Amino acid sequence: MLRGRDIISVNELSRQDFERIFDAADEILEAPGKWSSVLRGKIMATAFFEPSTRTRLSFHTAMLRLGGEVVDLGEVEKSSMAKGENLSDTIRMLDSYSDVIVMRHRLEGAAKLAAEIAEKPVINAGDGSRNHPTQAMIDLYAIRRFHGRIDGLTIGVLGDLKYGRATNSFIAALAKFRVERIYLISPPQLRVRDDTRELLSEAGIEFKEVERLEDVIGELDVLYASRIQKERFPDPSEYELVRGSYVITAETLKGARSSLTILHPLPRVDEISFEVDSTPHAKYFEQAALGVPVRMALLKLILVG
Ligand code: NCD
Repeated sequence: MLRGRDIISVNELSRQDFERIFDAADEILEAPGKWSSVLRGKIMATAFFEPSTRTRLSFHTAMLRLGGEVVDLGEVEKSSMAKGENLSDTIRMLDSYSDVIVMRHRLEGAAKLAAEIAEKPVINAGDGSRNHPTQAMIDLYAIRRFHGRIDGLTIGVLGDLKYGRATNSFIAALAKFRVERIYLISPPQLRVRDDTRELLSEAGIEFKEVERLEDVIGELDVLYASRIQKERFPDPSEYELVRGSYVITAETLKGARSSLTILHPLPRVDEISFEVDSTPHAKYFEQAALGVPVRMALLKLILVG
């Protein structure tokens, strides 16, 4: 059951929760018109304290497509936070005006704090460097649509595995399924944190940490690329050491399976060159488009069951 629940981290979700959301998203894509007034009279409040394009706009679009309405805190500089109002009081207000709160924040734990304050469900649209549960829903749903299944696949996760909340949530979500193997591909400085490694071991998932994409590309069904999270490096000179570590080009893909799909939460910076966009492997824009039906499914299940 998802009705009335906060969505803070992938860890609180079961495989069944994911599948319920995926099934609802399938139904939405089959007959979008049927859903246009499911959330009539409901209001979603959004508060984005960090930049966002896809997450913010796809949440808004999802709510509007369900017949609901949206109030947005807007730029922090134009809200009362600029006068010194704290996060707790701001959340309390959003809670009293709306039926569900969607929040993104720089600090890990901010969404949990908001959920403790608010009576209405809080959806974490990304906080800090660990949790971005709705992105993981989209990513796994994209795999299910493009490959027909998640179980049994070999998946490479490439880039910033240390600071990326999208990569971390993706890996945590994969651990709920029976994937064949996960390759964690990163420079040594950006390897996954110990808790992620433990999570995979506990789930009994076979995984291997490697540095070179070329060594594993031929084995992959899915390559999940990610941006190096410049803004999360405590020391800018450390970022300089790893920037541009990976650039996927048409050349890189020569040894790939014809059925390989490349996913990316976006935005990309320089890790996928533009020439890859026109190959049949490139699925990241279609993946981003799935953000709307997945978030529609989630909002519907949380608000009306
Ligand atoms: C991601 C994020 O904000 O964590 N973006 C997204 O929501 N699609 C990934 C990123 O910023 O690199």
